[in-house]
Amino acid sequence: MTTLIVHPATAPLVGSVPVPSDKSIGHRALLFSALSEGESRIAAFSHGEDNVSTANAMRAMGAEIRETGPSELVVRGVGLFGLKAPAAALDCGNSGTTMRLLTGLLSAQRFASTLVGDASLSRRPMMRVAGPLRSRGAVIEGKPHPTKPNEILPPLVVGPLPERKYLSKLEYDSPIASAQVKSAIILSGLYAHGATYVKEPTVSRDHTERMLQAIGAPLRAIGSIVELDPTGWDGKLSPIDVTIPGDLSAAAFLIVAAQLVEGSRVTVRGVGINPTRTGILEIARDMGAGIGVEPQGERAGEPIAEVHAWSAPLRASAIGGEVVPRGIDEIPIACALAACANGVTRISDVEELRVKESDRIATMAHVLRAFGVKCEERPDGLEIEGTQRPLDPVDVESRGDHRIAMTAAILALVARGPSKIRDASCIATSYPKFVATLRGLGAKIEVETT
Ligand code: S3P
Repeated sequence: MTTLIVHPATAPLVGSVPVPSDKSIGHRALLFSALSEGESRIAAFSHGEDNVSTANAMRAMGAEIRETGPSELVVRGVGLFGLKAPAAALDCGNSGTTMRLLTGLLSAQRFASTLVGDASLSRRPMMRVAGPLRSRGAVIEGKPHPTKPNEILPPLVVGPLPERKYLSKLEYDSPIASAQVKSAIILSGLYAHGATYVKEPTVSRDHTERMLQAIGAPLRAIGSIVELDPTGWDGKLSPIDVTIPGDLSAAAFLIVAAQLVEGSRVTVRGVGINPTRTGILEIARDMGAGIGVEPQGERAGEPIAEVHAWSAPLRASAIGGEVVPRGIDEIPIACALAACANGVTRISDVEELRVKESDRIATMAHVLRAFGVKCEERPDGLEIEGTQRPLDPVDVESRGDHRIAMTAAILALVARGPSKIRDASCIATSYPKFVATLRGLGAKIEVETT
């Protein structure tokens, strides 16, 4: 068990730092390069555990993935039709993206595969991908949900698609804005006989569309509609040469830390600012946060920037609607802004948080109350009464959720005394150097392993 002991900041956080490369783009770079023809180069690859789960799965199905530097990979793809049956179950660890994207890909294969995950992933709903995939002919079995008759949980057994049967065309009007659902359907659509259309209520992150288009997939995106028509396509994906942008979802913790610790000035370099991901910047600015974004062109077809963050007085706000899917992973750290803002912040439309790595609405409410912040849980969100006084020191559990652990660590910087964040090893799923980076900016954090 790893516990962080976070001391209250006694000086401003100051410095200019990189962040780990984008986890979402990393998954896609691995998957698509493994399906391409030839050798791909992926630079600035993050060794976060979630991305490593995807790399291991693709290796188990025949892709050759070599480390050619501390953060550089060379991938020899097997081609769209070259995957081989894995010898054992594919372990997706804590990564919902790995499991859901693989479900789409594997649903079109002539072999069966089993997908397993850790305790947290084993509680996450899979019908959102199995449903639409089954409706186009895929064979997917899961563990029945103990209370929801129409839901399935991991482990999943996917395929085989019977000989001479093909996935059919699909028009899917998704009830949720989910890049995992959209991407799983698109991956299956690469193999389908007929076109795939996916429509979302509002657009979710579009890294799949950008990267697949760049390597030759017959895909078009118009607003929140994606169309993929493989009719007449030769099924060839070109190899990739990408330097993955920094992860705004990781940068968000530092940007918010800079708001909370008075006098701070932090710059985060090389961060991806794809508009389908910038919800947190808009939310924070709306609350009065000190944030400057200096665009620096494109990397891997994705806009990047240097983000400057400095402490500023925060005011409460209403968070909900269209911005939510574009900042869904940053709602926990947005709660930290709300906790220190003047007034009551109402967060709504975030019911999806209930089925993330933990029930993030319940877990955040628990963590905020431990810090002495008044908050009310709603079915689809939270109401948080900000406070100007120092927070109470805490001794809290992350419930195995990396974003909760990191949010609690940031809040602890403005508590009255040292705080303990237990079960913090999960931080390595997305941000292995989180503690080192915060220490580099001046924070005092000890790591206790028992
Ligand atoms: C992701 C999509 C989002 C996000 C997750 C990563 C992706 O999930 O929360 O951390 O890389 O596609 P949903 O698709 O469930 O919203």
